[in-house]
Amino acid sequence: MTVLNPDTVGRVGNDPIFALNAEARARAEAGESILNATLGALLHDDGSLAVMPSATAAFDEVPAGVAAGYAPIGGTPGFLAAVLGDLFGAGPLTERAVAVATPGSTGAVYQAVGNFLQRGQAVLAPHLYWGPYRVIAEHQDRRVETFETFTPSLRFDVDALAAGMDRQLREQGRVLVLLNFPCNNPTGYSLDAEEWVAVAEVIADAGRSGPVAVVLDNAYARFGDAASTAWLDVVPVILERATLLVGWTASKSFTQYGARVGALVALHGDGEERARIADAVGYTCRATWSNCNHRGMIAVQRLLTDPVIVAQADEERGALVQLLDERVDAFNHAARAAGLSFPRHHGGFFVSVMTDDGERAAAAMRDMGVYVVPVRGAVRVGLCSTPAAQMERLVGALSAGVEAVAR
Ligand SMILES: Cc1ncc(COP(=O)(O)O)c(C=O)c1O
Repeated sequence: MTVLNPDTVGRVGNDPIFALNAEARARAEAGESILNATLGALLHDDGSLAVMPSATAAFDEVPAGVAAGYAPIGGTPGFLAAVLGDLFGAGPLTERAVAVATPGSTGAVYQAVGNFLQRGQAVLAPHLYWGPYRVIAEHQDRRVETFETFTPSLRFDVDALAAGMDRQLREQGRVLVLLNFPCNNPTGYSLDAEEWVAVAEVIADAGRSGPVAVVLDNAYARFGDAASTAWLDVVPVILERATLLVGWTASKSFTQYGARVGALVALHGDGEERARIADAVGYTCRATWSNCNHRGMIAVQRLLTDPVIVAQADEERGALVQLLDERVDAFNHAARAAGLSFPRHHGGFFVSVMTDDGERAAAAMRDMGVYVVPVRGAVRVGLCSTPAAQMERLVGALSAGVEAVAR
């Protein structure tokens, strides 16, 4: 007998990745040599969290009397305008967008699932997706359905996306696609310009048969290569027949994971529909987190718009991107030499190594003191927390894990 309502009994409060991380840390504290590549935060080689001084200063400089007050429900207008400016500049897309503040991109995904799907319906995501999408959907009585992420040659499977959309339009009459690019978590993959063109055509085509919305979870926007903004070129095609939602966040771009500053940006070609969307998402803000971190919004607005601070932040982030690039190069070199299978990868926080059984491979690696995250058909490796000097050990354990499954 429990006081909990029957629907919530058995829910697990801790994220499985945090549980793995806790186990790795406990073993390290007990004196073992542990390589912990589980977490999704960018660490320096000495294991300390990488923090951008410009962001710390911007937060510190917000007057206490302002920071302590409630922010407007949907977010401060200056912050929201700065986010739109960050995404679209002064271009025409800004005029076709509405935005509300959310606690990170997590909040944006939560908003999208609740407002663009009905109860019982499923969001459509590539099968290699960020794990919390499932609980975010289930918490609101929605689900996640998946399509195969890659073709056999490890390119994004646009045909599988099209088939999934087609099926959902027939079965549930509407589609909400959830994509996380660039630097996808867990694979590190970014769609290139050609793939975006194909994806946009599929979306616009599906939009002829029913309401279609696409969420672009843009959490790693600032860590990809030149192709990271290729999606912007296809927005007009998507908007011909569909709604585009963008999850924007300061968590990674400004190394402010704990600040919980983000936004949901919704693009739609029709002004009346935009107004309806703005009302619906504003309602969800009021009904969930009420309003977001006031200090954070003011600080991030400055980080996005004050030319001196922007230059400083760009320089600091540039050094972090370089740190990641060195790790990516070391990984690519060692993993290619070891014959591991992994998708195209140019940057970002993660890479996934393919194996038939991610759970078994990760378990075999734990026996060697190396922690990675099992996902379906792969293991996720956090390059963001693995120094380049550790890549040989990491790849050695990955090879052993993959071989343990193949035996
Ligand atoms: C793909 C993806 N989306 C969203 C998030 C959540 O980020 P936020 O702190 O912006 O809520 C993460 C964080 O790990 C992520 O990897």
